Amino acid sequence: MIDPVHAPRGWTRADIEADPSWAVAVPPEALADFEAGLARAQASGRGPFALSRSDFAFGPAARRVLADAVEATQSGRGFVLLRGFPVERWGVEASRLLFWGLGLHLGVPRPQGRASQFMSDVRDAGGVYRSTAGRGYNTRSALDFHADGSDLVGLMCLQTARAGGESLIASSVAAHNTMLAERPDLVRELYGLFTFSRQGEQAAEEPPYYTASVFGRKDGVFACRHIRNHVQSAQTSFPEVPRLSSAQREALDLLDAILARPSHCFRMHLARGDVQLVNNHTVLHSRTDYEDFDEPQRKRHLLRLWLSLAEAPALPDAWAQAYKDTAARAVRGGFRGQQITPEIEAFEHRLAAEHGLAMRIYADREDAPA
Ligand SMILES: [Fe+2]
Repeated sequence: MIDPVHAPRGWTRADIEADPSWAVAVPPEALADFEAGLARAQASGRGPFALSRSDFAFGPAARRVLADAVEATQSGRGFVLLRGFPVERWGVEASRLLFWGLGLHLGVPRPQGRASQFMSDVRDAGGVYRSTAGRGYNTRSALDFHADGSDLVGLMCLQTARAGGESLIASSVAAHNTMLAERPDLVRELYGLFTFSRQGEQAAEEPPYYTASVFGRKDGVFACRHIRNHVQSAQTSFPEVPRLSSAQREALDLLDAILARPSHCFRMHLARGDVQLVNNHTVLHSRTDYEDFDEPQRKRHLLRLWLSLAEAPALPDAWAQAYKDTAARAVRGGFRGQQITPEIEAFEHRLAAEHGLAMRIYADREDAPA
């Protein structure tokens, strides 16, 4: 018997429209703190992997904004939009540095793909989403609702599209409960294991695919990890992977259909200078397709961070292969990729210590569940 998830984190579109507290105009005193921190980091002359929170040393108003944002993502509805960073005045490189500092304050950044990049440039680089090595961030395609591979995903918007490219989010908690009311038999399928492709981005010691459940609970806390593009890719790429049963397919179809319902799906426009923070375990995201401006410097451009958070709960045991470590207060998640250097490993260990997180993730260089 599967129980509904009782948590304030479940919401419908009507809930979000009735309470716009998710959109936060960053107050002037906090912006001044952020800007002073940016200047300190610039003056330090350190590269990204040599920086610490103390190099930015954001003042109290900025720290309060960040603490409230963490609270909103972990105990509230799972997402927040911080508005008004002066990215146009700062320019791309200073904005990138500030966003990095914001990430270092919030948690431990995680690598995001084959190149082991810790900050992805989300823009159209000609990628093909529906391909065996496809990822969403380097295309201009509409994306399925999915979770990224970390506790928290942050986006900073530098340039918007000429048309489209709107951000879509939906509560996986609410989708779970709706599905449970309609088809409890199919909900049960999503607590079982699926095989996900690593999209060709695995590290040398990692197998090219792994298993994980879509829904899970740990100590009574619900979490969802839905990346259908990678499940589909595993079916196409690896003949030895078990074929999806008709019930599994039906369950994924119904979850996708519920997430896309106007009652569940909330659409938001990211403006220049907006920072969106989303809890991947309780909120799934997507975006509409888009059309770019012709001028290269005006093309849609977002920066993306993946973060491990000290405040995030323990994750389902069935996610051990995906997250490498599912304990609370541990560095976990990310796609290690192929270009982690000793400097980067030292950075990860240092940041983990600064945030009081255990760092066991690469301990044995194997993909086996911990
Ligand atoms: Fe994503």
